[in-house]
Amino acid sequence: MVTQILERKICALFIVISLVSLVNSASIWRWDCENEFCVKKSKNNATAGTSLETCKLVCGQYGTLWPVPTGDVFIGSAVVNVISQNFVFETNAVTDASRVLIEEMVDIFRGYLVSMEAYGGIEPTPSNSMIVVKIDCSQDDIRITYNTDESYELRITQELGEVVRVSITAPTAFGVRHALETLSQLAAWDDLAGSVVLVNEVFVSDRPFYRHRGLMVDTSRNFIQLGDLYRTVDGMSYNKLNTLHLHLTDAHSFPFDSPSVPQMAVYGAYSERKKYTVTDLKALNEYANTRGIRIVPELDGPAHSAYGWQWGPDYGLGDLALCVNRLNRTNVCIGPPCGIQNPVNENTYGVLELLFSDLKEAFSPDVFHLGADEVKFGCWNITEEIVDWLEDQGRGREEVDFYYLWGYYQNRTLEKVDTVYGNIPVIVWTSSLTEENFVENVITPERYIVQIWTESSEPSIASLYNKGYDLIFSNSDNWYLDCGYGSWVGDGNNWCSPYKGWQLLYDNDPLEILANQGILNPDPQRIWGGEAAMWTEQTDGGTLDGKLWPRGSAIAERLWSNPPGKWRTAEKRLVHMREVLCLRGIGADPVQPHWCHQNEGVCYYE
Ligand SMILES: *[C@@H]1O[C@H](CO)[C@@H](O)[C@H](O)[C@H]1NC(C)=O
Ligand SMILES: *[C@@H]1O[C@H](CO)[C@@H](O)[C@H](O)[C@H]1NC(C)=O
Ligand SMILES: *[C@@H]1O[C@H](CO)[C@@H](O)[C@H](O)[C@H]1NC(C)=O
Ligand SMILES: *[C@@H]1O[C@H](CO)[C@@H](O)[C@H](O)[C@H]1NC(C)=O
Repeated sequence: MVTQILERKICALFIVISLVSLVNSASIWRWDCENEFCVKKSKNNATAGTSLETCKLVCGQYGTLWPVPTGDVFIGSAVVNVISQNFVFETNAVTDASRVLIEEMVDIFRGYLVSMEAYGGIEPTPSNSMIVVKIDCSQDDIRITYNTDESYELRITQELGEVVRVSITAPTAFGVRHALETLSQLAAWDDLAGSVVLVNEVFVSDRPFYRHRGLMVDTSRNFIQLGDLYRTVDGMSYNKLNTLHLHLTDAHSFPFDSPSVPQMAVYGAYSERKKYTVTDLKALNEYANTRGIRIVPELDGPAHSAYGWQWGPDYGLGDLALCVNRLNRTNVCIGPPCGIQNPVNENTYGVLELLFSDLKEAFSPDVFHLGADEVKFGCWNITEEIVDWLEDQGRGREEVDFYYLWGYYQNRTLEKVDTVYGNIPVIVWTSSLTEENFVENVITPERYIVQIWTESSEPSIASLYNKGYDLIFSNSDNWYLDCGYGSWVGDGNNWCSPYKGWQLLYDNDPLEILANQGILNPDPQRIWGGEAAMWTEQTDGGTLDGKLWPRGSAIAERLWSNPPGKWRTAEKRLVHMREVLCLRGIGADPVQPHWCHQNEGVCYYE
């Protein structure tokens, strides 16, 4: 009896297993490329169509390339099965250092292939195809800067027999890196082949439209763990973004553990675990450089300075910051918390110089960000020490006098930047200062780049351009990633609501913003590019990925390609790019049901 039941159970189990395997082998849908879209066809006809991934690789003018190349592109219609071990790399580099860097970049590329195979989850179908990748790099740059030539050419040809030749030529290692990134987008795991497939005939010629293609991450409002920053760098590199702007410090916390001024983190970090050492940041900077990304540090001042700056009196240095933690902020400051640096205390500049030196150790930046936004004069105006100083200068207490004081702060701070870094460009945010007629007398266009965070319709954008400033765009109506959540200082929604969908980011075109204000042919050298801004009052590692991605991909294509078309032309590739980000370990938000990924071009209304 017992045996019979057992037999029946085993039998039932066997039936279930064979049903499962039957369902599995039949569950591979097939697609055809029709009018540039992959159309879901059939499940049972083994001779029809291809896998979705293979269809996407070769369908449409750009296949799955993101961001779209700016030069000539040819993508053939066939793929070849490849396995990761069969890639051979031959590198011509001009120096050993350049070769070492390129080899690190090649290792990252190999990692992409290995992770595609891991996604397949089975032993790949054996293949004898050899893929010979020949890399020619003619210059010796090993640090990415705002002047780096990031261009490249990539060619894939399949020879008779079993050799696939890939040739990469680029002036710098950073162009090589971009070419490898593009190469990885011409390959994907294919369920039908049971291996990775690679498009077998390709030509791509490519260079970025803008030199400054960034994300800004605020690490003060909420601390962002190093692991989250590393993953953000990864995500940026997949999209050929090249600038990570760290808004390192603000009024809320001072997470930079400066060896020269340890008091800053002692008084300012949220906890022992919520700070970065120079060693941490140096390692992050190296990791980013290998991925074609430079880090631009920002030490925001004179405003947005409270926690970290309170220790002066305890050490006999006087007040380094004023109005710290003042609860009645009316007419005094924004916040909470309240706080602004003390521009008439000589020790403030001594501290800044030490901080600049320590940040040089970490990043050796080629531009430095001084913040300089949201200065309210109220706190200075109620501080006796400041009022006395103005009087000594023969000044009063009108707005123009406080702008003079602010100009004094900027000049003294710039002197310290120069002492530490030499005459590198510095960036400041738009503020009341950049709206004033006398801005040129306070900050000179020869040294200052202005990062725009006003709305795109703000007429000061054109006037700043006309006054000679170089510009970086982060206009808050389209390129702010923190908008559309609940308010953190009241009820309702936060100040820059609503949420900015990827379409808004994609369509935000700096040249169009300028053209709308009458600047038709701006000097391309002076329009550096842009950054999507991730302010973190309501974000930390738990939600960072979904807020950054895939919207960061949308701005990346705007900045790399400056595509003539609007978001609709990019939609199917963006939806695909989101899948790629997820496969590579980024928790990107879905932008549609997965059904839309499998049924291209039919989800959005006309
Ligand atoms: C299978 O697909 C091929 C190619 O699309 C087509 O020619 C053929 O008629 C299909 N067969 C069936 C049974 O649907
Ligand atoms: C806060 O300061 C403003 C301006 O000085 C003043 O009018 C107001 O009464 C103060 N509020 C409190 C609660 O002290
Ligand atoms: C500074 O305070 C004085 C005295 O209250 C006032 O007259 C002046 O308008 C204030 N200045 C500014 C720029 O608000
Ligand atoms: C700051 O420097 C600029 C440019 O050198 C100069 O014109 C201006 O007078 C200086 N302002 C102050 C307050 O020192």
